[in-house]
Amino acid sequence: MIKKCLFPVAGYGTRFLPATKAMPKEMLPILDKPLVQYAVEEAVEAGMTDIGFVTGRGKRAIEDHFDVSYELEHQIAGTGKEKALEGIRQLIEQCTFSYTRQIEMGGLGDAILKGRALVGDEPFGVVLADDLCFGNGAGVLLQMARLYRQFRCSIVAIEEVPKSETRSYGVIAGEALSDRLYRVTDMVEKPAPEDAPSNFAIVGRYILTPDIFQILERTPVGKNGELQITDALREQAREGCVIAYRFDGRRIDCGSVPGFVEATNYCYERFFPKEG
Ligand code: UTP
Repeated sequence: MIKKCLFPVAGYGTRFLPATKAMPKEMLPILDKPLVQYAVEEAVEAGMTDIGFVTGRGKRAIEDHFDVSYELEHQIAGTGKEKALEGIRQLIEQCTFSYTRQIEMGGLGDAILKGRALVGDEPFGVVLADDLCFGNGAGVLLQMARLYRQFRCSIVAIEEVPKSETRSYGVIAGEALSDRLYRVTDMVEKPAPEDAPSNFAIVGRYILTPDIFQILERTPVGKNGELQITDALREQAREGCVIAYRFDGRRIDCGSVPGFVEATNYCYERFFPKEG
C-alpha cells in the first residue's frame, strides 16, 4: 500500500573518514554488498518500490550502483560471475529510482523536506541506510508497514539503549499500548541521560504521513543548528498521531567503525556460504 521510500544519503559520514572522503558512506560494503543495497532490499520487501534518494555532492556512486553497467555485464557474460549481479539486477527491474539533492547539510528534517518533490502527498517510508536492520522473520520496514495499515499514522522504530547513550539518539516518552507498541507523547533529540524521558531510542526506520512536510516547513531549526525530524514528529505526537514500535530484530549502527565491524562479523556468520 505504501509505495514510496525515501533514503536521505546526503550526510558527510565524518565518523568514517578518510574512507568517506571521496566515497559515500552508504556504499561501504558489508561482506560483498553495499549498505544502501541492503536498505533498498528491505524497502522492496515492504512493498515500497518507488525509491527516492536525497543525495549530495560526491554521492554519484549510488546512482551508478542502481543502474546497469553494460561493459561489466558484457565482460562477465557466460561466466559464473554473472550470479553475483543477480540481486542488484532484480532490484533495478522492480524499482524506479529518483534523485534530488540537498545542497547544504541542514539535518535529517531538512533532508526529508527536500524529498517532498519525490514523495508527493502520500505516506512514505524513510530508511537511514547506515542503520543496518535485520528482522526476525519479516524485515523491520515490512513490520512497520503492517502497523501503518492498522494505525494510519506515523510510525517510528525504537530500540532500548543504555541510558548512558541517549545523547546519540532521539528519545521518546510514550504510553504503552502493548508489549512492543507505544503511543508517543513527547520526544527529545539527543538528550543528556538525566534529561532523557526513557531509554527508548529512535533508530533509522520511519513511516511518515505527508502532513509532516507542512510541519517541517514551519519547524524552527533545532539542536546543533539542524532541522530535526524529531521536532516535527513531536508536533504530530501532540495530536496522538505517532506510534513507536520496538521492532522484532536486530539493528547495527554501521556509521561508526565498531558498529561496522560488528555488522560485518554478524553477516559473515549469518550469510557467508561456508565450504563443505
Ligand atoms: P548521520 O549523522 O548518522 O550521518 O545522519 P552523517 O552526518 O553522514 O555521519 P557522521 O555523523 O558525519 O559520521 C543520519 C542519516 O541522515 C542523512 C545521512 O546521510 C545519514 O544517512 N542526513 C543527515 C542527510 O541526508 N542530510 C543531513 O543534513 C543530515
